[in-house]
Amino acid sequence: MMIMYEDGTQVAKMALDRLGHSHGKQEMNIDPKMYQYWIDSMVAAVKECDPQFSPALEKQWRDAMRKGINYMVSAGQVETINLKSQPALG
Ligand code: HEM
Repeated sequence: MMIMYEDGTQVAKMALDRLGHSHGKQEMNIDPKMYQYWIDSMVAAVKECDPQFSPALEKQWRDAMRKGINYMVSAGQVETINLKSQPALG
């Protein structure tokens, strides 16, 4: 989805909206600072598994993930109105 997001695919945007919400303020409330560790771990795994790993490929992974994660984090900051917590009208 992160890679599809980079291509501007609408379905990827919707998937990241949902992920951003589940990881965001109103649900798991993951501190945005944690995503750097997530990217570092993912890059370490790619390095271990891909014999064609190179610094250029590492940069491509980091750039692609960062764009999607930035979107996911911004989607997770949005407060949605919880109708159940609103006082009853009338
Ligand atoms: C350090 C950062 C992160 C932490 C601590 C974290 C934590 C978690 C936890 C605890 C769950 C299980 C929630 C549940 O099923 O009840 C989860 C689910 C999931 N996470 Fe993360 N996550 C992080 C980053 C990410 C990132 C960057 C992505 C996407 C690239 C991602 C994708 C998912 C997906 C696809 C699920 C399955 C559940 C769902 O669709 O909401 N997570 N994450």
